[in-house]
Amino acid sequence: MQIPNDQILVIFGASGDLTYRKLMPALYALHHQKLLPTHFEVIGVSRTTLSDETFRGKMTEGIRAFSEPYHLNEAKVQEFCGRLTYHAMDPADATSYQGLKALLETKLDRGATNIVFYLSLVPSLFGTVATNLASVGLNQEVGGFRRLIVEKPFGYDLASSHRLNDDLHATFKEDQIYRIDHYLGKETVQNLLVLRFSNGIFEPLWNRNFVHHVEITAAESLGVGSRGGYYEGAGALRDMLQNHLLQVVGFTAMEPPSSMAPDAIRNETFKVLQALKPIREEDVPLQVVRGQYRAAQVQGKDVVGYREEPGVEPHSMTETYVAVKFFIDNWRWGGVPFYVRTGKRMPISVTEIVVHFKPTPLMLFKGHQEQTCCNKLIIRIQPDEGILLKVGMKQPGAGFIVKPVNLDFHYDELSDKHLPSAYERLLYDAMLGDSTLYARADAVEAAWRFVAPIQRVWAEEKASLEFYPAGTFGPVLANGLIDDYPEGWHYPCKNLGEDGQYCAL
Ligand code: BG6
Repeated sequence: MQIPNDQILVIFGASGDLTYRKLMPALYALHHQKLLPTHFEVIGVSRTTLSDETFRGKMTEGIRAFSEPYHLNEAKVQEFCGRLTYHAMDPADATSYQGLKALLETKLDRGATNIVFYLSLVPSLFGTVATNLASVGLNQEVGGFRRLIVEKPFGYDLASSHRLNDDLHATFKEDQIYRIDHYLGKETVQNLLVLRFSNGIFEPLWNRNFVHHVEITAAESLGVGSRGGYYEGAGALRDMLQNHLLQVVGFTAMEPPSSMAPDAIRNETFKVLQALKPIREEDVPLQVVRGQYRAAQVQGKDVVGYREEPGVEPHSMTETYVAVKFFIDNWRWGGVPFYVRTGKRMPISVTEIVVHFKPTPLMLFKGHQEQTCCNKLIIRIQPDEGILLKVGMKQPGAGFIVKPVNLDFHYDELSDKHLPSAYERLLYDAMLGDSTLYARADAVEAAWRFVAPIQRVWAEEKASLEFYPAGTFGPVLANGLIDDYPEGWHYPCKNLGEDGQYCAL
């Protein structure tokens, strides 16, 4: 494995939850695997006054709590934490950047020439921090690279994401900017590229001639919890669909890239997003279902409704569920419906892509066929990451009884390998300068353009908000979206575990 060049990582928002739960465990995992540069330091930045020691102590706790057990080794944790320092400053205050620059210069003198800035901040500060960094020359790639990693949400609509891109581009070049979409860091999402482009058997079938429809589900069993304040301004469309799920659509539907170079891949995913057929405003109520969970008993426990969650308005119209039917207007996918849904407080947490193939031209075994007419390829993004092909096989014995059986691959069968967390993969890539799994400006805007009519119709309250009991798969109305396929949505949980929470592929 390649080791990135020596560098310093500056994390803005270092006292926040993301740093504690995700970034530090991911960096520690890289340290544990000896994938960090020899000279690598992390400077945590935020407004709270903290000593280096207190910061290290807090990060040690986060690493212990959120690392995979096979990585945990106390000596290594302490070794890693020796790379951390803390710098208190207000990222919004332009005058405080001279101090940061002076601090970085002392470190640059000691060997590292490259700097990555990670903005784990409220989005309203992204542009300000970029401008402030530039005001002291920290955007200039003199003697080494300067990279900016930007967390989501990247804007809240097309206009704001466009403004944000303009603000960042005023001081940083596009190839210095890394927009994180942690779904692209998931192993199974990347494996989609390998499945499609390293196997000769799937690609000839991967088009309108053989595919009946494609379904993507991201169900979460948890509610909004303590994030009600943020979620009220987001909702499922902005929080999950515009970014994570449309990026997954991009990987699912893209043309083969000309190479594995970052822009060769990103050009192809961008073309998919550009080809999403705009939903006319009058069709929004027909092609989009929005829902919100209501209080219910889930596995014997009372669960509050979204409107009763802390930080949520009692009459909130924010959606916790969205399902969309759409088309991709290009030669490969013309006429093939794509169904994408996501929701909170579903019966289980599962994310999967299901490619439904067309039936055989003649149903020779009609009347003897159980459950399903058609082959399905299920790509399970989480949990129980893996890939499964459903095929019909003859039941042994008299006659021709056809049973659906699974040809499957589970990642946990590769027992000598652990699945890196999305942040582990993405941080490592940014350190190496590989932007393949980061969202490009044009793609982010294309995704916002696609959801814009939905946002407009909802803002004018021209579409209904459907309520669903917590612990169910969303509003009943969504069942009607898949109107030309008798089985409806793929129920991702045929082998429901005993606790009702886990669902094996
Ligand atoms: C985040 C959203 O981006 O993704 C959360 O803000 C959501 O609301 C999360 O729960 C889902 O990520 P994952 O990796 O748990 O599927």
